[in-house]
Amino acid sequence: MCRLCWTVLMLLLLAIVGAAYKFGIRGSTAPAEDGRLAILLTDGERARVLSEMRAFLVAVQAIAEAAANDKPGDAAAAARKVGMAAQRGVPVALMAKLPLEFKRLGLSTHRAFDQLALDAEQLGDRDHTLNQLAKLMRNCVGCHAAYRLGVRGVADRPRSQG
Ligand code: HEC
Repeated sequence: MCRLCWTVLMLLLLAIVGAAYKFGIRGSTAPAEDGRLAILLTDGERARVLSEMRAFLVAVQAIAEAAANDKPGDAAAAARKVGMAAQRGVPVALMAKLPLEFKRLGLSTHRAFDQLALDAEQLGDRDHTLNQLAKLMRNCVGCHAAYRLGVRGVADRPRSQG
């Protein structure tokens, strides 16, 4: 192949690798003033992520209450609502803005809720359920410590003003 062709091919490959890095690994992010990484989303996308978060909180509360009352069926039902099924239908444009590590933590949280549901049904062991809850909540803590949401161009605009 001619030299020019090789150069063009290399540049194309670099562009593809760059795009893959930007959209697949780094996402749409900027350092925030509080030391976390802000994920820059549109208002609609942010509303979607936050509503998913509130669903997580609802599930955590319901699972703790179900465990306290020794009702594994209730714990399973609450956990399943935020399992992998809840994750379907996330728009590609939003996915592309999320950093790889954020996606990994998010998916592993959904998966852990599914596992908790399955085990609660099959074992009905509330200590096991509480252990699973405590463990999966490390994902909540870890992700919140590392990421926050922001609006493009205003990385550290507080959520409450948006
Ligand atoms: C993959 C990352 C990630 C995981 C995992 C995660 N969160 Fe979040 N959560 C966020 C981000 C980012 C925000 C926005 C924080 C900000 O902008 O300051 C948020 C916000 C929230 C909010 C505020 C919602 C609102 O309306 O303002 C709640 C409640 C919440 N998370 C609960 C949870 C719970 C409970 C879990 C675990 C079961 C969890 N989150 C797991 C990333 C995550």
